Parts: sequence; C-alpha cells; structure tokens
Amino acid sequence: MSETIETLLTETRQFKPSAEFTSTANASSEDIYAQAEADPEGWWASWAEKLDWYKKWDTVLEWNRPFAKWFIGGKLNACYNCVDRHVSAGMGDKIALIGDGEPGDIRNFTYSQVKDRVSQISNGLKAMGIGKGDIVCLYMPMGPELAMTMLACARIGAPHSVIFGGFTAESIADRANDCGAKAIVTSDGTWRRGKIVELKKIVDQAMELGCHTVKNVLVFERVGAPGTETNGQAAPDYNQGTWVEGRDERAADVVDTASTDCPCEEMDAEDLLFILYTSGSTGKPKGIMHTTGGYLTGVSATSKLVFDFKDTDVFWCTADCGWITGHSYVVYGPMSNCVTQVMYEGAPDTPGKDRFWKIIEQHGVSVLYTAPTAIRTFMKWGEEYPNGCDLSSLRLLGSVGEPINPEAWMWYHKVIGNEKCPIVDTWWQTETGGIMITPLPGIVSTKPGSATRPFPGVGATIYSEEGVDLGANSDGKEAGGLLVLKRPWPSMLRGIWGDEDRYRDVYWSKFDDAYFAGDGAKRDADGFFWLLGRVDDIMLVSGHNISTMEVESALVDHPAVAEAAVIGKQHEVKGQAIAAFVIVKAGYEATDELRKEIRMHVGQKIGPVARPDDLIFTADVPKTRSGKIMRRLLRDIAEGRVLGDTTTLADPNVVASLQTEHDKEGQ
Ligand code: PRX
Repeated sequence: MSETIETLLTETRQFKPSAEFTSTANASSEDIYAQAEADPEGWWASWAEKLDWYKKWDTVLEWNRPFAKWFIGGKLNACYNCVDRHVSAGMGDKIALIGDGEPGDIRNFTYSQVKDRVSQISNGLKAMGIGKGDIVCLYMPMGPELAMTMLACARIGAPHSVIFGGFTAESIADRANDCGAKAIVTSDGTWRRGKIVELKKIVDQAMELGCHTVKNVLVFERVGAPGTETNGQAAPDYNQGTWVEGRDERAADVVDTASTDCPCEEMDAEDLLFILYTSGSTGKPKGIMHTTGGYLTGVSATSKLVFDFKDTDVFWCTADCGWITGHSYVVYGPMSNCVTQVMYEGAPDTPGKDRFWKIIEQHGVSVLYTAPTAIRTFMKWGEEYPNGCDLSSLRLLGSVGEPINPEAWMWYHKVIGNEKCPIVDTWWQTETGGIMITPLPGIVSTKPGSATRPFPGVGATIYSEEGVDLGANSDGKEAGGLLVLKRPWPSMLRGIWGDEDRYRDVYWSKFDDAYFAGDGAKRDADGFFWLLGRVDDIMLVSGHNISTMEVESALVDHPAVAEAAVIGKQHEVKGQAIAAFVIVKAGYEATDELRKEIRMHVGQKIGPVARPDDLIFTADVPKTRSGKIMRRLLRDIAEGRVLGDTTTLADPNVVASLQTEHDKEGQ
C-alpha cells in the first residue's frame, strides 16, 4: 500500500444534537474531552470509582508494552456489580431482562429475580465441580439464561467462553479444546425462523469429536418438555439416545433445586473474566482474553455516556451474546448501569418482516443498538414495515460492526429515528472490549457515515504505513491511513489465550509505539474519523488506494441498489480491478442498461478510477454469521479459484448461485 489511503467520498451533511437532548444528556459538556486528555489515568479511575470494590486498587496502570495491568491490587466481582449492588440499593424490583422468544413467549426478570436465578446457576455449576479459574463454554440460545449463566460464571470466578449458537460441532470442539473448558452449558434447543435448532445434539456431536477436558454438560430446557408442541413443532427428546449419564446434567435437577444464596467470589482486578474467540481473517480463531476490573470500568463508562442511560430507558442491543457486542452491551455495560433490556431470541423476519419494529412497539424500546447489515436488510424490505409500527418510544439509535454507509445512515435517521434521534456510530473490536470511537450524543454533531471522535481518554489516531502520525492535529487537512491506538485503555485485551507471540505479532509488531487495529481510516478537516474497513479490504487500483467500503457506499447511493459488496481482483495492468456484486431493490430489473448506469453513477460520485470493471447482479452476498461480507470468497469467485473455507458462512447456498451468476455475467 502507498503511504496514504485516498479519500474519495465526501459527505457534508451535519446533524447537531438538539438543545433538548443535550439538556438532559449524561455527557453535555465539551470539557470532558479535555479533562480526559489531560489525565487519562485519572479519567478512567474516576469511572472505576463508580463500581463497588471489596478492596480499592493501589496503582491505576502498569504498562509494559504490550502488556497492561489496570487497577492493580483492586478486588471486585463483576456479577456483584451487575446485579447484587442494584438489589442492595433498592432497585430489586426493576426489570432487568425482558426475554422475547421467537414464538412470542415473553419472560421478564427483575434484578432480584436475576440475583436468585444467577445464584442458583452458580450453585449448580459448583455442584458440578466448577470453581474459581475453571473455564466454562456456553452454547446457548440468545435469552435471559445465557446472560444469567455468564453472570453465574463471573460470580464464582469461572471464566466463560461463549460460543455463538449458530456455530458447528467442530467449532465447539476447537474452542473447548483450545481453552481447556471443564464444562459446557447448553440447552435442548432454540428457535430460529420458526424451526427448532437442537443445540444439545450439536454439543453431543462436539463431544463425539472429542472435547478432551470437558467433564460435564449442563442442559437448560428452552423449547419445552420433550414432546410438547409449539407452533406445530414437537420439542425434541434430548433425554434419549445421546444422553450420557454422569456427564450430562439437567438444569431442572441441579439448578432449579439449588439454593438462591451464593456468595460472590472476590476477584483480582486482573483475573480473567472471559475468553471470546474471534475468527480474524486467517488461520485459527484467536481466544481474546478480557479481565475483570479494567473491562468492567471501560464498558460501564462507555455504556453510560454513549447510550446516555436513564433510569426509565428500555435498551435493546440486537447482538447475540455470542459476540463481543452482547458481552459488553447486553451483559456487563448495561447491567452494571442497572438498565432494563430486551433480549430477542430469533430471526428479524419471523413471523413477519416487521418483527423488530413490533418488539420496539411492544416493549417501548427507547435506545436501539444494531448493525449496518441489519439496517440495509430492512431498507431492502421496505419502509412499510417500520411505518406500520409505533416507534415513538425511540430516543437514541446506535450502529456497530462495520462502516455504515451514508445512505443507510440517512434511512436509519429518517425512517426509524423520525429525524429526532441522534445516531451513535460506534467503532470498536472484540479486542478493544468497549467502544473506542463514537459520538457522545449530547455533545458531538454527527455526519452520516462517520464514527466521529475518540471516546474521551482514548488515544486514537492515524498512521501512515511508515508510522508517521497523520492525524495528531486537526490542522484543517484530511489524512487517510491506518487506525492505531496510541495509549493503553482499561478494557483492552490482555492477550490471546495460549499464544503470546501471536498477540505481539498481530497487534504490536507493525508499529513500535501503538496498537494496530487492522482498519483503514481517514480523518477529515474537522478531525472526525471515517472508518474504511479492514486494511486487507483496501484495493490498489492503478496506483490508487481505494477502500471497498467507499465504492460500496457509492453503489448503494444509486436508487436501484439495495446492497453491494466490492472486491479488488487481480488485473495485469491495473494491479487490481474493481468487481462489484450488486443486489437490486424490489421493482428494478437487472438489465445491461442498469449495469451501465450504476457504473457511471460510481464514476460520477467518486471518480472514474473507482468505476467497477465488473458488475455482477446477484440475489445475495456471502456473509459471516455476524453479518460481515466475506470478501475472501468473493475474490475466489471473481478470480475463478476454488472456494476457500465456507464453514463460517451464514448461508452456504449463496456462493453456489453467485458463482453461476459470475460465470454468466462477468466480463
Ligand atoms: O473493521 C472494524 C469493524 O469490525 C471490526 C471488529 O470486529 P469484531 O471484533 O467482530 O467486533 C465487532 C463489534 C465491535 C473492526 O476492526 N467495525 C466495528 N464497528 C465499526 C466497524 N467499522 C466501521 N465502523 C464501525 N462502527
């Protein structure tokens, strides 16, 4: 890559927070940025003070690059901070979790009920021999039991490792073996698009493949007692066939009957809270490690200021707890702030394409946090679905997971937010633990597509390939390059489980003095950050560095385009040529004429260099289960290679039909 990434798209719209929003916002004064910048350690310590500690720390930070320790000597318990202290403070009757099951069953838990249930689960785990330091894998439906089991592990000092409920038996076995899990917690099944997915069966397959350290499997009943029918489907009999006496335990036996009294373990600030595997672009998944004191401080602070939590809020983060977003902004961040939340089990189009909006209407959701891929899907389905529901309870919207293109941002703003809700576009990673670049909604004017500014105290900037800081001053010039974090932060990863070299290599070897995030970014004349996607996804076309994300944004800006995925394919002359996979909106026909028109549109929006050479119409694009476009597979298709690993695809059928389309249409 040449020294800077060219920034081609310009976006001039700006949205100031309303005076009304600012007047009640948790962060309303620009001063906090300067305060945090002047003394980052003091700033973070002020947030740590808001947690309950058994023993206060002696030292805020010890930094032996690349190893950080925060709040050294401090003792606390994450579960205590998310549950017990609220009950002690008289908030026991407040609803903590609203479990909204796909078939329509609703189960509410107050903070007191969560405390009792979590304690029972903790006691159940203890009865199975789990104690401080033992790692437990969770393979469970998205719902209250998952959040409560995570907290139950934290309560007794057993690090959890949640495995997303859509992963395969191989993935479970790989992860359980890598972290040396002593137990797996699962359930009979979960509902997905009106069908039962039998989770226990998948765990059984993983056990057959060999989970060498796992002694017990704890099974919650979710889809009903064996044989009971819901929507015409009978619950599976998970007690039969593959049930292994002595290994498998029913929650009905070991949890429901357990005492509701379980003391919280005193944990060191630097004790492991969880491991979460992230696939990364190559090779085997990395077990990202997060510890107790710093992580909780980071997610608690960012939750409070970014989502502006008020006592009356109903928060809905649509991410599954199998991802970091569900760890930080379903469980630990919101619950440490005593928030009421919705947890939805199933698919966004079951029973109808208005399910999300119905959930917001039914529970009076006031703060919604979702992903651009979901927003673009809703755009494709059409406005009639949200317009048919009452969304007036919403007051703040959030986005996470990938760059949100301006078109999707504007749709979110208009159709969902009724032009009155600020949007917080939050950039962060599994590795950062918490939000790093984001608007504070009462302070920062937003621009569609920009994650705006680093969270107070966060040392984000842009480096050239050679390590020159291009973004240190907002001197009125634009700068494009590589996003780095120049100072440690409390919720940063403490390493990769069992692989210190890989930790150094991936994040700390590119530059001597900064964490390399792997993302391209630009900073505009106002000092705002614009994320450009993974560096691996930046194309080099005739000597120009062009971000796939910017070309995608220009494509979806055309009225006929619902979604687009762009890649660089090898080209003898240009180095790389741009290939675009395009999904057209309902009502448009994928003709040669339209293809020409869309290519021209990109040329006009960005410049002729960014006009795609190939434009392939398709019904869908391959995505990971967390909604990220799998560009590696698209490159395989465009360059006529045998497809690489497709096991993490949300829908493996997509690639086969894409290949056919490509062979038919590609020029
Ligand atoms: O490329 C960035 C993108 O997602 C990556 C992190 O992925 P993961 O660890 O799965 O965590 C996702 C949830 C935090 C980043 O390196 N990304 C995440 N949020 C944004 C984003 N890209 C642009 N804008 C965002 N708001």
